[in-house]
Amino acid sequence: MNISFRLNGESVQLRDVEATTTLLDWLRGTRGLTGTKEGCNEGDCGACTVVVTDADGTRAMNSCILFLPQLAGKAVRTVEGVGGPDGQLHPVQDAMIAHHGSQCGFCTPGFITSMAAAHLNGERDHETALAGNLCRCTGYAPILRAARSAEAAPVPDWMTQDAQPDRCGDAPPYMPDGEVSHAAVLPETSDELAAWYAANPDGTLVAGATDVGLWVTKQLRELPHVAFLNRCTDLQQITETPEEIRIGAGVTIARLIPLMDRLHPSFGTMLRRYGAAQVRAAATIGGNIANGSPIGDGPPALIALGARLHLRHGTTRRDMPIEDFFIEYGRQDRQPGEFVEAVSIPRQADTLACYKVSKRFDQDISALLGCFNVVVEGGTVRRARIAFGGMAGTPKRASALEAALIGAPWSHETVQEAAGALERDFTPMSDMRASAEYRMEAAKNLLHRYFLKRTGGAPGSVQEVTA
Ligand SMILES: Cc1cc2nc3c(=O)[nH]c(=O)nc-3n(C[C@H](O)[C@H](O)[C@H](O)COP(=O)(O)OP(=O)(O)OC[C@H]3O[C@@H](n4cnc5c(N)ncnc54)[C@H](O)[C@@H]3O)c2cc1C
Ligand code: FES
Ligand code: FES
Repeated sequence: MNISFRLNGESVQLRDVEATTTLLDWLRGTRGLTGTKEGCNEGDCGACTVVVTDADGTRAMNSCILFLPQLAGKAVRTVEGVGGPDGQLHPVQDAMIAHHGSQCGFCTPGFITSMAAAHLNGERDHETALAGNLCRCTGYAPILRAARSAEAAPVPDWMTQDAQPDRCGDAPPYMPDGEVSHAAVLPETSDELAAWYAANPDGTLVAGATDVGLWVTKQLRELPHVAFLNRCTDLQQITETPEEIRIGAGVTIARLIPLMDRLHPSFGTMLRRYGAAQVRAAATIGGNIANGSPIGDGPPALIALGARLHLRHGTTRRDMPIEDFFIEYGRQDRQPGEFVEAVSIPRQADTLACYKVSKRFDQDISALLGCFNVVVEGGTVRRARIAFGGMAGTPKRASALEAALIGAPWSHETVQEAAGALERDFTPMSDMRASAEYRMEAAKNLLHRYFLKRTGGAPGSVQEVTA
């Protein structure tokens, strides 16, 4: 595969690269840029963080689960490139030295690159910006002090040069018109993608690669036919009409947050606990739905909002209530060669609350996630859409609970009684994240919490409740 991008300010043209080579392996193994470190090789530790810029802006990303074709037309800065051309240190590097922010130094390049991306964006919430970077010896206080002390320093010129990258490269588009036989492709439009996928239904789609990356780095899987979705800008659109909000499958979780902050703030708040900044910058809502995980954070909220899923095969399109997509564990209503094009949310007054329960506050997969959307009129429950993740083999609607609530007075007694219906809705399992008993008890308690929030008796935001 041929791709081009900008690396530390210089144009790079690559010919015949293996499509599933990770940026980390290429940087360290081929390019000799060993400042970027490999810790977990699965997106969890941030040691491999690089700064990526494209037309959508600048963000920190994990190079261990970024495949080279995902960088086509973008600009990348590694820790070797955050300093100036004449050896000047970046303000965050100066600050890390001044505040003793490094001991063994293994995590430091990842912190520096995350901090440089946050500094460029004027980010002041350093806890959130650095939640995806682990340090095992310095401790976070000096690092956070360093990040704060660098806030006022101007962004160095060399960092802003990446802000308007050209499409970087004279390599031909990797998918010539009408050509659908390539083993690895980078389509520019969803029409091209649809044609390729219809002709290669056994192929693998790669969106953010926050799942697929691990298939390669951890399961050592070979992916003989791959299509990368990152150049399909028509899949990355958010369209708002008076009736609905249509979100393209390629919209990242990071882009979804400000939208949901405006429309359904509890969803936006919950998404801040989705992975960490590096993961949210890569992961797409389409991938989060299509992977069918019972513990994905997007689907329960979308089910509770009454979202519809839009699928496409070749030129044929269909749509369905999103809950119908999830048939059983590992099985979704998606035909070979069919892909997720978008998800649409009907406009509605905001009564949604999302509660993510996990062992750690940041960068953790949900043990369970409860999403509640109950409409009360004149003291009576008129409508209820309630969905859970982590309670069954799929993200699932709590139909018995909804039925027990609808038409009843919105009261403590109703909620107390209706909570028992969850035992008809779900038979959760025990695993390393939580026991079945814990899950059921917590699900019932979340219903009580929602009631208390709605009636003014409890904090509404998950971030108001920390250990
Ligand atoms: C460190 C880490 C932390 C994480 N934390 C969370 C978390 O807190 N909450 C959570 O929900 N998830 C989490 N995840 C899981 C992961 O981020 C999500 O499942 C993610 O949304 C997948 O999206 P993606 O774009 O990266 O998909 P990819 O990895 O590119 O693809 C995932 C699957 O979907 C398919 N696919 C992708 N796009 C489409 C499409 N448009 N149509 C059809 N099929 C498609 C792919 O072929 C693949 O089967 C985490 C992952 C990592 C590595
Ligand atoms: S090596 Fe740990 S996140 Fe990449
Ligand atoms: S300085 Fe050693 S892990 Fe952070």
